[in-house]
This record gives sequence, C-alpha cells and structure tokens, in this order.
Amino acid sequence: MKPRKLSLPPGHAYPIDEWRLVETKFYPRLLPQMETLFTTANGYLGIRGCHEEGAPAFQSGTFVNGFYESWPIVYAEEAYGFAKKGQTIVNVADSKIINLYVDDEPFFLSKANVLEYKRTLDMKSGTLDREVLWETAAGKRVLIKSRRFASFEHKHLALISYEVTVLNAAASIVISSKTIIDTAGQFDKSAEDDPRVAKGFEDDILAPNLKEINDKRIILCHTTKNSNIAIASGVDHVFEANSDWSVQGKTSANYGKVVFSAEVESGKPVRLTKFITYYRASGDNRPEDVKDRAERALNRAVTKGFDSLLAAQQELVEDFWARSDVRIEGDPAVQQAIRFNLFQILQASGRVEGNGLPAKGLTGPGYEGHYFWDTEIYVLPFLIYTSPRIAKSLIRFRYSHLDKARKRAREVNQVGALYPWRTIDGDEASAYYAAGTAAYHINADIIHALRKYVEITGDEDFLYSDGAEMLVETARLWNDLGFYSKRKGGRFCINGVTGPDEYNTVVDNNTFTNLMARENLWYAARTLKHIKQNMPDRYQALAYETGLKDAEIEEWQQAADNMYLCYDERLDIHPQDDSFLDKEPWDLENTPIEKYPLLLHYHPLVIYRHQVIKQADVVLALLLLGDEFTHDEKKRNFDYYDRLTTGDSSLSACIQAIMAAELGYRDLAREYSQYALLMDLADIGDNVKDGCHIASMGGTWMVVVYGFAGLRDYDGKIRFNPVTLGRISRVTFPLTIRGSTIQIDIKKESVTYSLIEGEEITVWHGEDEIHLTQAEPVTKRIDHTHGDEVDTQL
Ligand code: BGC
Repeated sequence: MKPRKLSLPPGHAYPIDEWRLVETKFYPRLLPQMETLFTTANGYLGIRGCHEEGAPAFQSGTFVNGFYESWPIVYAEEAYGFAKKGQTIVNVADSKIINLYVDDEPFFLSKANVLEYKRTLDMKSGTLDREVLWETAAGKRVLIKSRRFASFEHKHLALISYEVTVLNAAASIVISSKTIIDTAGQFDKSAEDDPRVAKGFEDDILAPNLKEINDKRIILCHTTKNSNIAIASGVDHVFEANSDWSVQGKTSANYGKVVFSAEVESGKPVRLTKFITYYRASGDNRPEDVKDRAERALNRAVTKGFDSLLAAQQELVEDFWARSDVRIEGDPAVQQAIRFNLFQILQASGRVEGNGLPAKGLTGPGYEGHYFWDTEIYVLPFLIYTSPRIAKSLIRFRYSHLDKARKRAREVNQVGALYPWRTIDGDEASAYYAAGTAAYHINADIIHALRKYVEITGDEDFLYSDGAEMLVETARLWNDLGFYSKRKGGRFCINGVTGPDEYNTVVDNNTFTNLMARENLWYAARTLKHIKQNMPDRYQALAYETGLKDAEIEEWQQAADNMYLCYDERLDIHPQDDSFLDKEPWDLENTPIEKYPLLLHYHPLVIYRHQVIKQADVVLALLLLGDEFTHDEKKRNFDYYDRLTTGDSSLSACIQAIMAAELGYRDLAREYSQYALLMDLADIGDNVKDGCHIASMGGTWMVVVYGFAGLRDYDGKIRFNPVTLGRISRVTFPLTIRGSTIQIDIKKESVTYSLIEGEEITVWHGEDEIHLTQAEPVTKRIDHTHGDEVDTQL
C-alpha cells in the first residue's frame, strides 16, 4: 500500500534550517499544529507552543508527566475483569501568560498590526524564541522579544524572558504576568468521536489547597479529586528597566497575577524574567510539602538567573547532540526533519526519571497522556544506543509497576504479571479490551526492550536483579495463557489476543505475539538457568521473592520450543493469525481517501471481517526477530502484507521503510521514510494538533540506523549492511555500545567505522568482521549488488 498523502507544509511557514524550526508569519489556520510543534518540554514538564499573551490559542496545554485524574469507566454492559479506572493527563496551571499593554493598548497577535514576526524552535540551544515588531494604533513601534525553555538541568523549572522596547517613542508600559488554573483541566472538545483525543471533564477536578503571594512570587496548590495528587505551581519574577517602575500583585485560589508598570524612553528595553515551577507530589506528599519544594526551586532559580540557567541548558543540549546527532549531507529538509524528531524525543525523555513516556510526549493531551508499547519498541532503540541511562530509567519504571501487573494478571484470571496496554499509574486504563487488554504482546515488548538494553549496554547486574523478576512473571503469564493444542499437533498455542494490528482483534495465534512470547520465554529460561548455575544466592533470593520452582523454568523452555506458528503452505507465508487468510480482502484501491483512517469511518466489526491491516504486524516481527526468517521468507511475507497495510497508525511507515530497504524496494523505502520523517512536520495524520507522534519519531532514527545503515543487532552482535543513499551524499551518526562510542559515516560508495571513545570493539560489515581500535578507522565499500539503491530525497 502506498502512502496516501504527503502534503508538505507551506514553505513560508517552515524555511529549511538544519538546526531550527522557523515560523516567519503568524497563520491563525496553523495555530493548533504549531502549538504542538513549538512545545518546550523536558520529560517532566511540557508547555505547548502557545503565545505568551494567552490568546489566540487552540489548547493552552501545560502538562506535568504523571499528573493525571482518574475516573470510573462506565460500560453500558459490564463484564468481569474489565478495566475499572480511566486515567487522563490533566492541564496544570497555565503560567506562561504575559499580557502587554503599551499606552493602555493591549497586544494581541491576531488583532495587532504586526510588521515583523519570527518564531524559532532552536534545537541547538533548546529554546523557543519569538520576535515581533508591533505598531500600535498611535504609530509606536514595539519590539517584543521572548525566549522560553523547560530546563534540562532543573526538571521542575521553566523560564521565560520577555523583553519590550519601544523603538520610536517614549511610552507607558504595563506587563501583566499571570498564572491561571482551569479547575476542569480542560482540553479541546471539538473531536469527541475520535478515540485518540483525550476526554474532557465536565466538572471541576482540581481542588484548591493553598495560595500564597509574596512580593513578586505566587504559589498555588491544588489536588486532583479522585487520584488525589497534589501539585504546587509557582511563579517568580525579575524585572529590569532603566526607568522607574512599580509592581502590584494579587491572587485567588485559582489565579494569580503580578503587574509591572514602567514609563520607558524610546529605544530603552524593559525585561521581565518569569521563573515557573511545578512540583507534583509523589507518594503521600501533602500540599504543604510540595509548596515548600516549589519555594526552594524558585529561590535557586532566581539566584542563578536566566542567563546562567540558559547557559546550562545549551550545554546539556549540546551534550545530547554529541551522543545522538544524525548528520545528513545533501538534503537539508531531511536533516531538519531528523533533528526535529530527535529533539522531540529529548523533550519527551530528558528528565523522565520515575515516569513513563507518553505517546505524545508532553506536547499535547492525545491518547490521554498514556504510556504504551511505543516506548519499548519505537523509542528505546534510540535511547539504548545514545542515552542508556534514560533507557534504563524507562525500563525500571516498568519494574516499579510489576506489582500492579501481577494484580492485573489475577484480574484477568492468569498467573504471573500482565502489563497494562495503556496506563499512567500502572493500572490498565484501556476501556476497550479488544484493542487494549487483549494486546498481551506488551509483556513481550517490554522484555524485548530489556534484552536489547542488556545486550547493547552490557548492564547484566540489572538483568540479574530487577530484570530477572520481570522475566519470571512475564514468562509465567505466557505459560499460563497458552496451551498445548491437540488440533495443532500438540503445539503451544496462544488464543484470544490482539497483535500490533488493531484492525484484527482477539484472534488466535497472532504470529507476532507467538514469536515475541517465544523470545520472552526462551530469554526467561536461559537467564534463570544462568542465575541458578552461577549465582546460587541470587537464585535463592529470587525464588523466595517470586515463589519460583525449578520445574517452571523447564515449562517455559518447553512452551517456547513448542510454540505454534501458523504457516500457509500455498502462499508460503506466515498468516497474521489463524483466521486472517479466511477473511475477505479489503478493497483498498477503491476506498476513497477521505475514508482513512478506517477506524474513524467504519464500525469495528466491518474492519475485523476483512484482511486489512492498521500497522506493521508480521512485518514488524520480520525486523525485531529478523534472524528467525530467511531472506525469501521476509520477501514473501512483506509482499503479501504490505499491500494490505493502510498505515492508519503512525507506528507503521517507519517499519515498512526499514523492511523495504532491507528487501531492496527502492521506491517504497523512499516513500515510507518520507512518510515517517514528516509525520509531524507535514501533519500527515491530520492530528498533530493533539500532540507529536513520539513513536514515529523514534522510528525515524530506526529508519536511518536500521534502514539506511542496515544495522541488525540480534544477540548483541552488531552488523551493518548499508544501502546506497540516492541523493543524500553522506550520513553520519554515533552509537554507544557497551560503553564504547563508535561513529558510522556512510558515503556514496563507502562506509567508515571509527571508535571515538572507549574500549576496542568488534562489529561486522556484512560478513566481514571488523576489530575497531581508536588508532584506526576502517573503511569498507558498500555492496551495490544487494538490492536497489534507496532514494531518500524528500
Ligand atoms: C496504535 C498503537 C499505539 C497507539 C499509541 C494506536 O493508534 O495502533 O499501536 O500504541 O496508537 O501511539
């Protein structure tokens, strides 16, 4: 199936700059998308790219990771074991608001006479910058420069510098800085039929606890009514002017403002620095505790000052790029798109510690702020190879929810642990079990990521401690869920599950699930046998903690060895599941473009009756477990499934691109990579307004590294098979493997591997073993005989 739509954004809205996303004109029509794309976030807090003046705005979202409200899921018909509690990320205080009045005339972008306008997301400095030249009704020219960032150094902190200069006259200036809580935590309610959009609340969900104003500082504390989480939102200010100025502040339970008034001379700037902090309670912190912490954060920030905090920001972002940058020569648009995508992953994960990574990062409320398998399968590959510390924190986060996963397994009548398909607090939050709880593969996805993390970083201590416990419980689940079916020759079958493709739900023997479950069971058996043999004390402790019996390990081994994998002799492919091939193929060629995504236009039953695929399923297995298939098997499976795949999920194109590249399908690889690369910048799914597609962004990195460079890392063995690059003349990127950092530099005809930091390391170029030392980079010719050239031009 070819990508259906690839509309590039208007050139004037995004001139191509390899390090910046620049908006050179204010387009009210593009406001919703730009708010998402211009988000500033650090993994803990995120502020959508709304203008400081508060209006016009589509969704004035400000989010704190893990700050959510819960609500009872009401089913028209209840059934045993259904998830009971919905969870929705909640808008916190909108503290970015700064209103400007010049001679009493308010500045509002949509109404003002704007002479010049430029907004820049600067991916090198980690800031959002805006410069506006406004002419007032009286002809005064006012230059407004603002800069904001969410600090990577102090995760609870965001800053805004707002500078105003009247260029051609003296004037009276008033700057009113506000913090406002919408106690209903509201979002856009315009698209209530779209399941991907967050639910809005009818009633107040935030109860005020305390408010304080002290000179230029305001702190408000609120607690969510059901989930009972306290949050302190604080602002403080520093005002600089060459003339006399005065300040006044006031606050109420849900509102606070500090107003600065100054008489300014022509050409003399005034500058307001706004320090913003959010402290979310963890455990049973009381509002007073979080308030004290917010105070301390503000004290520290004001003492350090904007410039020093900005310098630290730039250093941390520079450090990120040193570990992670993908450099592209020959196509600036590809370069910009890749950097933008990687920068958004930094913004989603930089200070994520103790939390998960929402499907939209902190750029919007889409998917209610939930954590999905997106993290493990799409984002962790990038983080494991570039920021292993953050990768570990995300896997540990899953470990911290193991008890809840154990409880969930009991609720669905199984032993072991079942991780939630979507969640914030560790409980299953999916109200539609067919495309939720039934996606049991989440267990194996988490273990797949754990395994990749351990193999690539060498962090075996983690595997033999927390990791081993996760292995025991997930393996138990699979062993209990499946059974040996006589009708399938005594093979181990797993029935009634949903694979990655949500257009075929609650099916038997989904190939992806069975393969991934097999990997999970084998890995558990192998690891536990190793611990038993080599670390008897650890084994004993683990057996005590989990009640593990030796016989269980054998059972896992047997289940895995006997795993049923459906196969169709006639087509020579792995059917997606037992019944997939019996269904009527969907007529994709004759489905009008406006009927996509199908999920918004057809009853699920209609979709489920057909051979039609939302996102890569068997094709994803061909990548993740590619060493279990021959080249011909991959080709036959890809050929069969690709034409049935709608790509209605943003998680699909990147995987299709990588497999198309491996199989030498030049045009398809090009189209799918463009699709993945521009998923957000070109708003391919028409839903960027609700947030960025972080999984697809991680998938973009995979397209470069697994697609162009042809990395395969089965069992921790690092092998490259670069494809030639069409109009791109060069691609360079670093990878950190077991503490050593190597650089891969792909040119038209050759690739150079260098060790830039750490111990010597062995990698493979195709079948050639390369021993890399710091003394000598190794250059190899690219094999043109293997597949077509991949044209990556946009
Ligand atoms: C996809 C899921 C994904 C979720 C969140 C859905 O549309 O089908 O695979 O986890 O979006 O990104």
